[in-house]
Amino acid sequence: MKREEIRRKESIEKPSGKLGVLIPGIGGAVSTTFIAGVELIRKGIGEPIGSLTQLGTIRLGKRYEHRVPLIKDFVPLADINDLVFAGWDIYGANLYEAALNAKVLTKDHIEPVKHFLASISPMPAVFDQRFVKNLNGNHVKHGANHRELIDALKEDISDFCRQHDVSRCIMIWCGSTEVYLKQEEVHQSLSAFMEALENNDSRIAPSMIYATAALEMGIPFINGAPNLTIDIPALIELASKNNVPIAGKDFKTGQTLMKTIIAPGLKARMLGLEGWYSTNILGNRDGLVLDDKDSFRTKEESKLSVLDYILQPQLYPTLYKNYYHKVTINYYPPRGDNKEGWDCIDIFGWLGYPMHIKIDFECRDSILAAPLVLDLVLFMDLAKRANMSGIQEWLSFYFKSPMHKENLYPEHDLFIQLMKLKNTLRYLMEEEQITHFGLDYYMNNSKS
Ligand SMILES: NC(=O)c1ccc[n+]([C@@H]2O[C@H](COP(=O)([O-])OP(=O)(O)OC[C@H]3O[C@@H](n4cnc5c(N)ncnc54)[C@H](O)[C@@H]3O)[C@@H](O)[C@H]2O)c1
Repeated sequence: MKREEIRRKESIEKPSGKLGVLIPGIGGAVSTTFIAGVELIRKGIGEPIGSLTQLGTIRLGKRYEHRVPLIKDFVPLADINDLVFAGWDIYGANLYEAALNAKVLTKDHIEPVKHFLASISPMPAVFDQRFVKNLNGNHVKHGANHRELIDALKEDISDFCRQHDVSRCIMIWCGSTEVYLKQEEVHQSLSAFMEALENNDSRIAPSMIYATAALEMGIPFINGAPNLTIDIPALIELASKNNVPIAGKDFKTGQTLMKTIIAPGLKARMLGLEGWYSTNILGNRDGLVLDDKDSFRTKEESKLSVLDYILQPQLYPTLYKNYYHKVTINYYPPRGDNKEGWDCIDIFGWLGYPMHIKIDFECRDSILAAPLVLDLVLFMDLAKRANMSGIQEWLSFYFKSPMHKENLYPEHDLFIQLMKLKNTLRYLMEEEQITHFGLDYYMNNSKS
């Protein structure tokens, strides 16, 4: 992404026409909660709680100017009335049935949008059970090789755009967590990857097939799960070649959200950490998938990296050298989507005296994830219209494992992430960056 190529202010393309939201995993808990929620909000029956694009404000200029517009009035975002939805799932149930099955929303919220949800049925998925061992749906595509499957996905997308008069699209992976994959040589360059697609290489996951279809069509791709997917040089190269923005990975909700709120606070006060033990019980389909050790490994990597990057033990050995960090997830069906996460945090203060923090977060996974899906779709569409391409690090705010340039480390601190996001919006609209310096208010000749 070259700075001078980014379109700013008036030159950002206007969000006119319909925006297609394409979702692999559209029959899942997050997707159905997101789509039903958008429709309820459009009907005036619900509020977009948790969504920065809908409720958040942004301060502009000096504090005495009192300029604090809503983000959606400041940057040209698509209107939620212009969103139309399509997607794929390995189960063919329409979204009304899928939403009932997910047991996230009550009937009070599902029935008023029954017809809308029932009008959306998943398209047959690109699926390979080797990558999600605990699921086995039969609503799937067949093709001689990966390339044929990509072409079939592209045809689905073109048909959808034609039928719904869609002017532009975003694809967001809300499918299950795939098994842990390491980068191998087929992932290292676009040419090797393209060859591997023709050869049906087993190191190419279904999520990569969806991502390739999107990027080849110039459609921005977001990865909501911890899968490797677009986080490989080959697809980063494709995104850059086709001038498409990409972002990922793994929505930051629940326990990791709490971790990235609390850990920066402990570090800011120079309090030490002896150990951080995190455990969860979860009973939805996501919990079932994560019950497989290979899918859990992908999630574990994503969850574990957070603390090291925030606490920087290499810079603060007295405080953070050798702290013990453990994360577990246990599948426990009675809880469904209402995950309970416990954290036992052993810290120490002045002269090394120990203290303990306990957190019991009785959360609702998909209720926390749905607003992130909405924000990401709207911000990625903005990025595309502003001609931003490649990794969108300014959207790290939303992810457990933010994608980043090779020679940079990821930023995990939620508050730095928010500042980065808002300063990017200010940059796009040619407003002054806000550093929170503040001393200038107290210098001679200052206005107040
Ligand atoms: N809910 C959260 O707070 C949260 C947070 C971070 C990440 N995530 C991730 O988001 C994803 C969705 O979560 P969820 O709770 O909705 O899970 P879910 O199991 O309810 O939904 C996933 C859906 O993906 C479908 N699927 C699997 N493989 C597919 C494929 N190849 N093509 C199309 N569809 C496929 C499944 O059939 C299922 O309907 C998971 O990967 C999860 O780890 C969720």
